[in-house]
Amino acid sequence: MNSTIETILNHVSVRSFTDQPLTQEQIKQLVTAGQAASSASFQQAYTIIGVSDQELKMKIADLAGGQKFIAEGGHFFVFCADVNRHKQIAEDMNIDISGTIEGMDAILVGAIDASLAAQNLVLAAESMGLGVCYIGGVRDGIIGISDLLNIPEYVAPVFGIVVGYPNERNDTKPRLPFEAVYHENNYNNDTKGLINQYDELTKLYYSTRSGIKQNKIWSESAVGSFVRHPRTFMKKFLTDKGWAKH
Ligand SMILES: Cc1cc2nc3c(=O)[nH]c(=O)nc-3n(C[C@H](O)[C@H](O)[C@H](O)COP(=O)(O)O)c2cc1C
Repeated sequence: MNSTIETILNHVSVRSFTDQPLTQEQIKQLVTAGQAASSASFQQAYTIIGVSDQELKMKIADLAGGQKFIAEGGHFFVFCADVNRHKQIAEDMNIDISGTIEGMDAILVGAIDASLAAQNLVLAAESMGLGVCYIGGVRDGIIGISDLLNIPEYVAPVFGIVVGYPNERNDTKPRLPFEAVYHENNYNNDTKGLINQYDELTKLYYSTRSGIKQNKIWSESAVGSFVRHPRTFMKKFLTDKGWAKH
């Protein structure tokens, strides 16, 4: 155990923030920590848009599934997969990369790079005593949010992150058993027993945790989330922006 692992293991999503804003220095420090992450082929295929305009933040909160806390404190970062700058550089060099950036792998490259930078930013924030919450709800409102942020082609918002001073924190959530997630030498397709055990653990967690208590288990909430967020418009959104055509 060391202080880095302690910070990692103490992670909880925070959904209530004080009014204390982040300083410009903190924002720069966080983004710089994000940028230090590894990047596939060093493409740095992402852009982070900070939303400081309160009215814009409220509109985004609305479009991101009506998650009001996004606009109630903290700084909002929108992480975008981005190969737009690569396209522009290639055009200047008279090189055609459209076959690559229009393929499925390019959106993965951008989304992976954005995620690695994001998690670095999250850990940096948590090490500073700040709270964070990822906002995948950005993809629920991806069309409207992209319009608001003037997102050009070959750019796609993948999630947001709210970062701020925590008002309250939940207890840390237990994760899936080690053996359910770590398989050795081949894929273990028989993890039902482990998942049943985990459902019992999460039932206890949700019914006894500090803060809002709920009667639910992990299996139901995970499947329920897929039911609530089919996001069937995503393929069209991506292809309209030039991505994922083949
Ligand atoms: C990509 C991503 C998107 C998420 N989107 C949302 C969201 O829109 N709203 C929200 O309240 N939490 C969101 N979360 C937070 C998860 O609900 C949370 O990480 C999960 O329940 C585990 O809880 P913990 O982070 O407190 O350990 C998101 C997390 C990730 C990684």
